Amino acid sequence: MAAVCAAGSPRREEARALDRDDPLNFTRAEFVVPTKADLASTRLQVKDLGETAATPAGPDASTDASTYLCGNSLGLQPRRTALRLQQYLSTWATQGVQGHFKPLDGSPLPTWLDADAKAAKMIAPVVGAEVSEVAVMETLTANLHFLMSAFYRPDIKGRHKIILESKAFPSDHFAVETQIRHHGLSPESSMVTIESQTAAKTAMSTDDILAVIAAHADTTAVLLLPGIQYYTGQLLDIPTITTFARKHGIFVIWDLAHAVGNVPLHLHDWDVDAAAWCTYKYLNGGPGCIGGLFVHARNSQVTSAAADKRPEEGYPNRFAGWWGNDKSTRFVMATKFHPAPGAAGFQLSNPSILDITSLCASLEVFELAGGVGELRKKSLKLTAYLETLLNEMAEKNLFKIITPSDPQQRGAQLSLLLAESLLEPVMESLQADGVIVDERRPDVIRVAPAPLYNTFEDCVTFVEVFARALRKANSSESG
Ligand SMILES: Cc1ncc(COP(=O)(O)O)c(C=O)c1O
Repeated sequence: MAAVCAAGSPRREEARALDRDDPLNFTRAEFVVPTKADLASTRLQVKDLGETAATPAGPDASTDASTYLCGNSLGLQPRRTALRLQQYLSTWATQGVQGHFKPLDGSPLPTWLDADAKAAKMIAPVVGAEVSEVAVMETLTANLHFLMSAFYRPDIKGRHKIILESKAFPSDHFAVETQIRHHGLSPESSMVTIESQTAAKTAMSTDDILAVIAAHADTTAVLLLPGIQYYTGQLLDIPTITTFARKHGIFVIWDLAHAVGNVPLHLHDWDVDAAAWCTYKYLNGGPGCIGGLFVHARNSQVTSAAADKRPEEGYPNRFAGWWGNDKSTRFVMATKFHPAPGAAGFQLSNPSILDITSLCASLEVFELAGGVGELRKKSLKLTAYLETLLNEMAEKNLFKIITPSDPQQRGAQLSLLLAESLLEPVMESLQADGVIVDERRPDVIRVAPAPLYNTFEDCVTFVEVFARALRKANSSESG
């Protein structure tokens, strides 16, 4: 394989031509791609990350660029993040507390009081929501808890169950389990898990999911599923599953960690009840960056008469904080909570402006690219190209692609299940050759060409290095 994909090989030439013809090839220059030397270094290097810093890009400059295929875990840093953060720091340094409300001439940044509203406006098209249906707040697991605290009202004689997948991301599993216990119930009777019925126990079919929902239809309060399954990379049929569960009176929550910024979402039109996501994967907000939450308009109505009613009337119950109070009376400092209409009314604390500034810098690049719909067109081609190259490999017997081969059932990521004992040596070799992917034990590596900064040539490089790594690991394993 190394010979097939060596520099100047037909495959590499083909990939370079695809990159040249790619209408979105300009967005790679918006990102700081680590060099191989950066990745090998054990010393902190404080670099110029601004607009003038060079990103190795394209055939001529790519020799030292790493091959970063890990946007499913942590997206790369947008170049404009450094500039926007510098502008934020300068605002804070020169204005102090005035930064909350004083607009500055020449600043592209909103006042801090308006930062959450601006972020909601920028993220609404990414998830297919009305602006009032989204809030940029807290973090993913916290937001799942906040949503369940508002919408999971178990009744042991009626609806008390939460359905989730058996292989859910541990945080989701823990959140559901502890919500159930928090209400004095037991997971043994109130938690239902969906098992994959395929022989390999990988992808879940829509029919498998609907069958479990139907079997527990009368006793289920909430369904929590991932838009894209983190381990297999499977994209679930969100509209079909949502419609079916809602028809049975179940409140539907989606964990969109791996779907947001990766595949087009239409949460409002799909009639999803609520959703939560993080922003450090395909949204490139930075490690641990602020999360997001969607609450369908029908679930966040606030009647104007609420001020005259008992606190629990006029809006659904929730764990409240001052930032969720209606903006017009937030600073009156009264102790009667009157939530802002929409998802904003679920906010608790004043948000980290550092985080929001970082997230919005990346969302600017999404806007430049023309939105997730345009990126998806490229993503479909990139991932299919990677799949083709993987399927051509002579070492194909040493791994299996467990992500569905139907492009409509996956996003950017392909998950590769390696033959036993190969994971560690393969990961070591990939890293030594400047290729970054991530692993999920015991035997899976996840490879995600992100359309904002990955190239067709990255796919060729990955497959070339992967083939070498497999051969080496397999020979020392059998030797
Ligand atoms: C599917 C899924 N759910 C939940 C989480 C937890 O996210 P957080 O640590 O931001 O709460 C992650 C993190 O990667 C995830 O992939």
